[in-house]
Amino acid sequence: MPDADDILERKNFYLEVPQTSKAFALKGSNALDWGMKNRLARIFLPDDCRTVMLAVDHGYFQGPTTGLERIDVTICPLIPYADALMITRGALRSTIPPEITKPVVLRSSGGQSILKELSNERIAVDIEDAVRVNASALAVQVYIGGVHEHESIGNLVEIVNAGNRHGIPTMAVTGVGKELARDAKYLGLATRICAELGANFVKTYYCEKGFAAVAAGCPVPLVIAGGKKLPEIDALRMAYRAVSEGAAGVDMGRNIFQCDAPKAMIQAVRAVVHENETPERAYDLYLSLKSAGEGSELCTAKTQLR
Ligand code: R5P
Repeated sequence: MPDADDILERKNFYLEVPQTSKAFALKGSNALDWGMKNRLARIFLPDDCRTVMLAVDHGYFQGPTTGLERIDVTICPLIPYADALMITRGALRSTIPPEITKPVVLRSSGGQSILKELSNERIAVDIEDAVRVNASALAVQVYIGGVHEHESIGNLVEIVNAGNRHGIPTMAVTGVGKELARDAKYLGLATRICAELGANFVKTYYCEKGFAAVAAGCPVPLVIAGGKKLPEIDALRMAYRAVSEGAAGVDMGRNIFQCDAPKAMIQAVRAVVHENETPERAYDLYLSLKSAGEGSELCTAKTQLR
């Protein structure tokens, strides 16, 4: 039984210390609600507001992509080195141990395959199911200039509305049709439209000329996709330039999981994104980790899952 008479004397209200109310540092996110901010802070590390997301959702339209034939074998060992995992609900439930503590960015649109028109997507996840798998963000493809531009923008709007009801942020993914140029003019248009319609962060591509203006013109964080597999030094250079010119990190897939040494590569990408390491020094790190045997381990130890 607590001693009621003693309670007041022992309390300390720190009367000389004003209650702090810090601005939320992530670009464009200060006006969001607590749950949104908390989820975003799980994806973008609060120290630098940057992220290394590992994208493994490619199977939703291209089937067993090289490097993703067995997500349980090849991707689980990489999870400790990623800040977030971008994945479909099917792959999540069937291959990823629920004990992981890394945030999940849930692929939430789909409905086409590489055999058909790529922009023909619909919403592919109920918000209730996203809550059920504890998604930290929802990802939806937007095809500005594509055949189904209007429908894909509609998907974004619906996902944003659903996410807002539950405090789950939305990442818009700018899908670029083959006929469109990935230049600053196009990417600036696409990313800005996504942000204006409520995306909390946007995944896009890096462009050699004018990327800084693309990033500056988008009022929420940008992360870049890696695209097709490049030589490792080139992928690291792209990541370096992107973050130097305003990106808040990467959402990289093939340039990590299609490497000879994926675990070494994701650590090199981390060095660039979180430590501002030069591509050359990050590449040296990649080579030294690779020669030490990093990247060939399977998903066996408990600690590798977290
Ligand atoms: C593509 O639509 C998927 O969302 C991928 O997640 C995306 O392309 C990123 O992967 P990568 O770095 O392999 O381009």
